Amino acid sequence: MPAHRLLSRRLVIIGAAVVIAVLGACAVLAAQWAGLIGAPTTAAAAAAHTAAQQDNKHWAHGDNTLGVLGATFGLRIGTAVNTDALAKDAAYRQVLGTQFSTVTPENAMKWGIVEPKQGVYDWAPADKLVAFAQAHHQLVRGHNLVWFQELPEWLNKQYRSISPDALRSILHKHITDEVSHFKGKIWQWDVVNEAFADDGTLRDDMFLDKLGPGYIADALRWAHEADPTAQLFYNDYNIEFSGAKSDAVYDFVKKLQKQGVPIDGVGFQGHFGTQFQLPDLQTNLERFARLGLNVAVTEVDVRTSMPVLAFEQSAQNAAYSQSLQACIAVRACISYTMWGFDDRYSWIPDSFPGQGSADIYDRNLHPKPQYDVLKQDLQLAADGAPVRTERGVR
Ligand code: XIL
Repeated sequence: MPAHRLLSRRLVIIGAAVVIAVLGACAVLAAQWAGLIGAPTTAAAAAAHTAAQQDNKHWAHGDNTLGVLGATFGLRIGTAVNTDALAKDAAYRQVLGTQFSTVTPENAMKWGIVEPKQGVYDWAPADKLVAFAQAHHQLVRGHNLVWFQELPEWLNKQYRSISPDALRSILHKHITDEVSHFKGKIWQWDVVNEAFADDGTLRDDMFLDKLGPGYIADALRWAHEADPTAQLFYNDYNIEFSGAKSDAVYDFVKKLQKQGVPIDGVGFQGHFGTQFQLPDLQTNLERFARLGLNVAVTEVDVRTSMPVLAFEQSAQNAAYSQSLQACIAVRACISYTMWGFDDRYSWIPDSFPGQGSADIYDRNLHPKPQYDVLKQDLQLAADGAPVRTERGVR
């Protein structure tokens, strides 16, 4: 349904719902916390739906979190997690544990982190995040198994000399060991990350160089063998809008499906900036969804030049809102994840000097206008947005 129709329908429903909100509020909150952040049942989803309609007064006072509101129609709201912050910052943990229904390790599952020395694994930070997620009824997006960046130094050093066979068996072992370690605990794996260049050709990295384009299908097959229940994703940036790169990824995953390669979804990163035009995300999510795939928005942030001026703040609000509304409108879109929720630990200032303020909480971990915008969109969507389940369309 187009976003503007969704909004106007919602406004009428909100008016009616406010009248019964006070009576319904206690039952509503109990139902939400009992069933909605955990694996939703049909009954819980129906109760949630009614709950959402009755709850419009309550949420405005901050009682409902993003995760709870998304759960009213089955959409998981997530964030990337900085595992150092998770270990040392109680205020960070508090927001993380209450606002979100899915988490992604920002770095802790990347190859360079989990296998710093060849054959010597360090799962500790990622294990702690998985335990935190389980304790808070959150699902985990595993990120990532194959990426040209953040590779272990010992592997980068072998780039020139390693034989295709040796690299193939190293990659096979890495995927098998990591997916097996987390078996049964990962909802969606970003199996391959950023394998395409902006012109639509496959990125010229070590894997393409040594193994040829078949490494992507192999990675998906190996991941599936190690954990047949995890949903397997291809994840990338600059595929949020149509164009050479998104067309190429579209054709590629279609081919993988024809070949029977296990792929369940495509992740659209969503690193936006106020200086760029907003992409036509919904149209693009829809065309991938028509392939029978799940889709997910996986890494949203909206950076701007510092300090933030009023019109930049508005543009940030708009980018958050439009990207969330795009996901809400598409039933196959099963999660909307931000790349960190706070400006305290954001990766943006280091990676894009002069830019920042990209997240929905400030450096003091107080919610910013972007947070309110997301909350409002979720509240408005509570009645009428297509209801989705954990498995999406798979
Ligand atoms: C980034 C992290 O946020 C940084 O801390 C790290 O130094 C580099 O990687 N696309 C991705 C993510 O898929 O893994 C990247 O994360 C951001 C861009």
